Amino acid sequence: MEMNKDFLWGGSIAAHQCEGAVKEGNKGTGIMDLVTVGAYGQPREIHREFQAESRYPSHQGIDFYHRYKEDIALFAEMGFKALRISIDWSRIFPKGDEEEPNQAGLEFYHDVVDELLKQKIEPIVTLYHFEMPIHLVTKYGSWTNRKVVDFYLKFCETMFQSLNNKVKYWVTFNEMNHIDPQTEASDIFTYIIAGLKYSEIEDKKQTLATIGYNMTVASCMAVELGHKINPENKIGCVFGIEPVYPVDCNPENVLKAFQQMDRDFYQIDAMCNGEFPKYKIREYQAIGIDLTVNEADQQAFKNGKLDFIGMNYYASSVAEYEGAETGASALFGGLQNPFLKTSKWGWTIDPVGIRYLLNYTYRKYGLPIIITENGLGAVDEIGEDGHIHDEYRIAYLKDHILEVKKAVEIDQVDCFGYLMWGPIDLVSATTGQMSKRYGFIHVDLDDEGRGSLNRSRKDSFDWYKQTIAENAGNLSAQ
Ligand code: BG6
Repeated sequence: MEMNKDFLWGGSIAAHQCEGAVKEGNKGTGIMDLVTVGAYGQPREIHREFQAESRYPSHQGIDFYHRYKEDIALFAEMGFKALRISIDWSRIFPKGDEEEPNQAGLEFYHDVVDELLKQKIEPIVTLYHFEMPIHLVTKYGSWTNRKVVDFYLKFCETMFQSLNNKVKYWVTFNEMNHIDPQTEASDIFTYIIAGLKYSEIEDKKQTLATIGYNMTVASCMAVELGHKINPENKIGCVFGIEPVYPVDCNPENVLKAFQQMDRDFYQIDAMCNGEFPKYKIREYQAIGIDLTVNEADQQAFKNGKLDFIGMNYYASSVAEYEGAETGASALFGGLQNPFLKTSKWGWTIDPVGIRYLLNYTYRKYGLPIIITENGLGAVDEIGEDGHIHDEYRIAYLKDHILEVKKAVEIDQVDCFGYLMWGPIDLVSATTGQMSKRYGFIHVDLDDEGRGSLNRSRKDSFDWYKQTIAENAGNLSAQ
């Protein structure tokens, strides 16, 4: 099978990482509006109240709110077929529990979508990309509370109705799979997804299992709702999955790697197989976690199956069983893969991993898959000629796209698109830095918020343009 001529080449961005304008359009405060910049190696601080001396990078973003036309024109110049954006829930329902949506928020997203359509770029809309109104955390306890599921569904319904016939591709959630009751997490990881700091969560296992469950059922209910509103809607969910390799062929390590990787799939099972997996309920019961799947939820799992799966892929990881002494520990925790290099932020660079993941997931579910994120966070330097020569980014993307091509053309995986993460430099989700840059388009802005915000093309800009024009036919492994 050749790469389809309708293959959706493009990119992905998220509202809180690019829009800025937090005080405009009656926007409420979202969870990520209260998180500071983390300097190299330091975690982002999470505040409950704004502190005058702190810098919160989402407040300025890259000013996409005012510059979206210019930015979309640049994406169109590269030949984008699709752009994945997210809707900031707190622009539509500033506190989350209002009766009526905020018109200014709806208008803004209409304008963005209209601009995309004008430029013949297919909008792919994520309904939850770390952008929950903080009020839903402080008043209701976030996703531990079923009322939040209802508020989310009301928000989804509002968006399905409002953008009906303009948007066809929807994503219910971004990366809910990072919430796992059995894995220790840093504060930022649980906060990003649910507005709760890991260290402050009481009864961690039960709480995280409940959040994971409520989000899963909410996704299924949203799918059902979206199909009812318009049967033409294609609704998926996005997962951030790392292939996990055993550190060696010791069967104990192989088993550990399987267990670690499989942990990220129970929600996909629930969204594709028509029921919440029994193995998960039993596993939870064995460690004292109690989950009740009521009748209404059972129906939701049956009726809310996904149309496609979105995959965010950045890196792979390595596992060993507890007590193993392989000497593979990396400097900053985790295990090193001696076959792979890492980015400046310690993420392994593993192009073959994307082919592995596409094959693994496609064989498990048989559903169409879209790569919804992939990219390299790097420090870019402006050369003497005033341009950024980012051959390292081109190399990373080329190697990954070649593996996607193999998955499609050799392995027959039904992958219908590739969306590069951060086609324009934007605020990093985990660190808050601007200096962790992903883009084809440079934004003149530093970690302290200084800069003209001017946009300029890096070398990778022309390279991606050519790659799209030739449907990746220009790429070779050399
Ligand atoms: C993904 C998120 O997990 O990783 C994005 O969906 C995020 O929001 C991306 O930006 C890259 O992570 P970071 O921390 O480098 O921005």
